[in-house]
Amino acid sequence: MKYYLEERIGNPALFTGRQKELDFFLTWIDEIKQRKSKSTAILARRKMGKTALIERLFNITFHKNDGVIPFYYEIREETVDVVDFCLDFFLTFIYQYMAFKSRKREYLGQTPDTNFDKVKETVVKEGLDYLIDMIEKVEYTSKQGHGWILWNIVREAPKNLAASRDEFIVQMIDEFQFMNALVYRDKTMTRVFSDMAGGYLSAAESKVAPLLVTGSWVGWLLNDLMMLLPGRFRFKFLRDMPEEEAVEMTFKYSRFFDVSVTEETAYLIAQLSEGSPFYISAIIRSTYEDKDLTTVDGLADTLEFETLRTEGEIKSTWMEYVSTAFHRVNDRQAKNIVLYLSKNKNREVTRRELLEKLELEYTDAELEKKLKALVRADIIEQGASNFRYRGVQDNIFGKVFRGVYQEEIEAFESEQIRKEYLEAFEELKKKYRSLLGKFSYQKGYFAEYLILDQLLYHARSKNVLLKEMTCNLPADFKFCEYRRVWSYRYAPGFAEGFSVDIFAPAQSSAEYSIVGEVKSRDRKAFSKAEAQSFEKKLERMVTIEKLDRVVGFIFSRSGLSAEAEEYCRKRGISYSADERWLDI
Ligand SMILES: Nc1ncnc2c1ncn2[C@@H]1O[C@H](COP(=O)(O)OP(=O)(O)OP(=O)(O)O)[C@@H](O)[C@H]1O
Ligand SMILES: [Mg+2]
Repeated sequence: MKYYLEERIGNPALFTGRQKELDFFLTWIDEIKQRKSKSTAILARRKMGKTALIERLFNITFHKNDGVIPFYYEIREETVDVVDFCLDFFLTFIYQYMAFKSRKREYLGQTPDTNFDKVKETVVKEGLDYLIDMIEKVEYTSKQGHGWILWNIVREAPKNLAASRDEFIVQMIDEFQFMNALVYRDKTMTRVFSDMAGGYLSAAESKVAPLLVTGSWVGWLLNDLMMLLPGRFRFKFLRDMPEEEAVEMTFKYSRFFDVSVTEETAYLIAQLSEGSPFYISAIIRSTYEDKDLTTVDGLADTLEFETLRTEGEIKSTWMEYVSTAFHRVNDRQAKNIVLYLSKNKNREVTRRELLEKLELEYTDAELEKKLKALVRADIIEQGASNFRYRGVQDNIFGKVFRGVYQEEIEAFESEQIRKEYLEAFEELKKKYRSLLGKFSYQKGYFAEYLILDQLLYHARSKNVLLKEMTCNLPADFKFCEYRRVWSYRYAPGFAEGFSVDIFAPAQSSAEYSIVGEVKSRDRKAFSKAEAQSFEKKLERMVTIEKLDRVVGFIFSRSGLSAEAEEYCRKRGISYSADERWLDI
């Protein structure tokens, strides 16, 4: 797949998992063509990968080129007057539309040029003359300085264009909540256009150009949507990554950034991160100078650094967020309240308890208002009733918060945080060992990643041994240099959730590529039916990736059934159950 929009994730190969969400939203995008998809807001805790997800959706949709035109716009965190905002919004749209139509990536990276003559010239050059009217209307209105009218025109532009040309557009707007806070009504920059997003009341109902919005201030976003655009959006929650995706991401980041982990520490990182891609990335990429993620102590040191030291990405990110939030909430007791909830994060706390325990001098109504502001800022959560509140259910955030504010408010030992991490690790280690024990394994709970490393780093030097351990390889087979060695997820056609555990395309076309399946956590022998279903995937891989010479490889720790072995022999699929594949 080709990546058109530069993704913030950096190397596109780093994007991991989100399988369910990709499936859901790709179907949602596809169904725009049947006018079935309703505008949707993606909601999630901070840093859960909302932006990463919509940027990837943009790229897949762009690449598929299958009747839905993607438009991505991020509202930047800076003040701007409405005319400038509208021009930027509109021209970004026009350039992305041109990029899609002309398949030219270079139009995507451009900062929109407000030289309208040049814009029109480019539009004509690409044979999109029908855009000229719309562009001239925007040019004229912006020169007149009619901000409000201009907003009406540019906001409706994607929808109107789609409707008039029988096309379909998905409008992805990131940081949507900033629209009502940072755009000013005119150049004097005195009055904020505080109901700007409310303009979407009708456009958000469009079925030919529905919106997919998200933002980093989720409580605030949700509040804006409910107040200004009631009933216009569906909400879709982006949850923690499931364990297997968190583990995959840990191994992938470890390899990519050349930071070693062991199977055990990878398990601990994935678990402690509670499925947050941000935590996994921050731990692996931590700038802690003595970082050693191959031991539990080393991992605790790194986490302590990330949680308590200002150079830590986790702490600095959260502190920036929290201080902006407190500034917005503007209350001197807010820290105390958040700290109290964070210390009691395992239960809900009532307003009465807060009033009494913290000896607050507010009326209940005043406190309710302040708590509401904190909920909106995502610093605390609403409990089961309007009267109850909870600390955010994020154990690392809670520790960062205590590390900063507990000290300010009361005596605090930073040793305590380290102790808590170590205690959490003890618990997790027990869990990990019992998982291994369940299969009587010493190692190789994550066998697929060991095999991937074996292929990438050692297979060439261990050619003879690995070939000996593997049945049914072609006579002229040898392990070679691979262009990449990782699992494979077929993105553009996602609906069928197609994936294989190992994909290692050979660097030279004279050598064999490998497509493989790993079964480790299963006591049953690999069956003939499984071999058949693997063979189907293998065939699809050959077509999709245009593979000439390829070997299908099954690693099953509990062996293959006699029928499966026979089937593999007949069909030329190689296999192994030899544990030494996991020795690296
Ligand atoms: N699916 C993923 N695979 C790999 N890395 C990811 C994935 N999703 C997110 N990340 C990484 O996690 C971090 C947070 O992601 P991102 O900025 O997309 O989150 P967000 O929810 O948009 O955050 P915010 O709440 O600040 O808007 C980034 O460093 C990103 O590269
Ligand atoms: Mg984001």
